[in-house]
Amino acid sequence: MNKEELLAKIESLRTEANGALAALDSLVSLQEFKVRFLGKKGLLTDILKSLSLLGPEERPIVGEAANRAKTEIESRLESLRKNLDQKERSRLQSQKQVDVSLPGLKLPRGFRHPLSLVEKEIESIFVNMGFSVFEGPDIESDYYNFEALNFPADHPAREMQDTFYIGPRTMDQGQRTQEKVHGPWSMVHGPLLLRTHTSPVQIRTMEKQKPPIYMICPGAVYRHDDDVTHSPMFHQVEGLMVDRHLTFGDLKGVLTLFCQTIFGKKLKTRFRPSFFPFVEPGAEVDISCVLCAGKGCRVCGGDGWLEILGAGMVHPAVLEQVKIDPKKFTGFAFGMGVERIAMLKYGIDDIRLFYQSDMRFLEQF
Ligand code: PHE
Repeated sequence: MNKEELLAKIESLRTEANGALAALDSLVSLQEFKVRFLGKKGLLTDILKSLSLLGPEERPIVGEAANRAKTEIESRLESLRKNLDQKERSRLQSQKQVDVSLPGLKLPRGFRHPLSLVEKEIESIFVNMGFSVFEGPDIESDYYNFEALNFPADHPAREMQDTFYIGPRTMDQGQRTQEKVHGPWSMVHGPLLLRTHTSPVQIRTMEKQKPPIYMICPGAVYRHDDDVTHSPMFHQVEGLMVDRHLTFGDLKGVLTLFCQTIFGKKLKTRFRPSFFPFVEPGAEVDISCVLCAGKGCRVCGGDGWLEILGAGMVHPAVLEQVKIDPKKFTGFAFGMGVERIAMLKYGIDDIRLFYQSDMRFLEQF
């Protein structure tokens, strides 16, 4: 091929390229164009390869024409690319636009467990009356769970509560084994156990604080018991009030106000004599049945009353144990089951529902 033919070929390549450029409408077709005209095996490269066939004078002339054509095509290509790129961007942008009229996605929300709800409600009623909230350990010693609460050693009242012991049960064995594990502390405090009630927190509180004491203590307790109304782990809220001149009348007033706040103003209370070693006199508190309002039904067993609390005046022996003078101070204590109150409040007939983590049950509260 000679010089004239090559120059003509360059010229027709330019024309062809310009025509093809005008038809490009996407980034993909632009890439195809680039391969076809400017690529390693492209049309322009073909022409440049044939330069070697020309003589030394002709070569620069044709070479320059070829380069000019290349630069021209490249610069048009570049501005076209920018253009298409911009169009593509704004197309994507418009697709991303938010349709504010579409209904939103509902995010699932967490909720409180019914037992936490009831526990918080109980707490807030007493906090409003001026009580403070305390806590104690789930693993207790025989001393706090029984002895300091005036349960004499080997007294049958200890059997009432079906205790889970941790390690050996008798004081004797208890002292020896626990001495190794826990040090001399256990010498005084006896075997370890899972607390059977929240009453040990009465002792722990009175050891640390002198009267006036207005405390409640929520927490888990453990008893060897398992059926539709009993669970081996359940929850109590303990209460203790120690001050000058407190009487059984104060106990009745505080607990009646509590019961009416949680179950409704129309509710009646009844205080029956009962025995707990750490109170004297002791009482069990009944409320008029929340289902039949006292007429008698399946829930109250027909007599119209439901037992919901244990209570009593703090036994002088307990006050002496924590070095509070029973001649100067009196007090009352009470304990209630959170599950029992929640079951009555929501009409739940199987305690196990609280612990099965079934969302269909739990999300109703
Ligand atoms: N601790 C008792 C129980 O679990 C309840 C109670 C607490 C009774 C305080 C009297 C005073 O049965």
